[in-house]
Amino acid sequence: MKKKKASRRISLKASWEIEKLLVANQIVARTLEMLRENLLPGVTTYDLDRLAEEYVISCSAIPAFKGYRGYPATLCVSINEEIVHGIPSPDRVLEAGDLVSIDMGVIHDEYYGDAAISQVVGESGSPEAYRLIDCAKEALFSGIEKVKKGKRLGDVSSAIQSKVEEYGYGVVKQFVGHGIGKNLHEPPEVPNYGKKGRGPKLKKGMVIAIEPMVTAGGADVKVLADGWTAVTKDGSLAAHYEHSVAVTDHGPLILSLLR
Ligand code: MF3
Ligand code: CO
Repeated sequence: MKKKKASRRISLKASWEIEKLLVANQIVARTLEMLRENLLPGVTTYDLDRLAEEYVISCSAIPAFKGYRGYPATLCVSINEEIVHGIPSPDRVLEAGDLVSIDMGVIHDEYYGDAAISQVVGESGSPEAYRLIDCAKEALFSGIEKVKKGKRLGDVSSAIQSKVEEYGYGVVKQFVGHGIGKNLHEPPEVPNYGKKGRGPKLKKGMVIAIEPMVTAGGADVKVLADGWTAVTKDGSLAAHYEHSVAVTDHGPLILSLLR
């Protein structure tokens, strides 16, 4: 989501709500897994969107992004220098070596699921593309590791930032992760940069979507004329990974991790 200034209270979910969030996020996980197998040269981003929507509906779920602030599709499909919010189109044909990020959300039984993956099309990506994807995924998991009672949000943010910097890549600051529940975006904002020991304390029942966006060059963002597609200003490659994660008594529960 776009970074903004807003601060309502962070809601704590009961365990029955976490169960519902798990169901929604598992639909997202299964859709993304199905899409991975369809990331082939010649497939259009519109084809992917159709596949995803059909599957989501077959699970008695609703695409969460479609209609959200006027967004026109089920998926966000962002290719190469596109960071997030790429709009699927029948004119956009995947090519071998493309770095593709797919972000999607659903509503099921009133609760939201949200996750994103990045993958290279075919087996012919640049070494940099694979390394950038590894970085986004590793940064996400180093953040998830900090999702524990008593830690603070800044511990999550700072772990992500440190991992990206270790790789020597850029971390996008214009977009952030977010709380998730009966709304796609709830407090708190979850930045992918920050300081240890700062920010709200993590409590049992908090559920956050953590979504690092990393760039091979500069991390400055430009939004295209379609009003959505966010690209790197310098045209460098970008990757994006996202999981929705609950704080439990036993540490992080990754709701969108495929079971
Ligand atoms: N995961 C992204 C976010 O939380 C997806 C939003 S796409 C939108 O911002 F279309 F719904 F805005
Ligand atoms: Co999100």
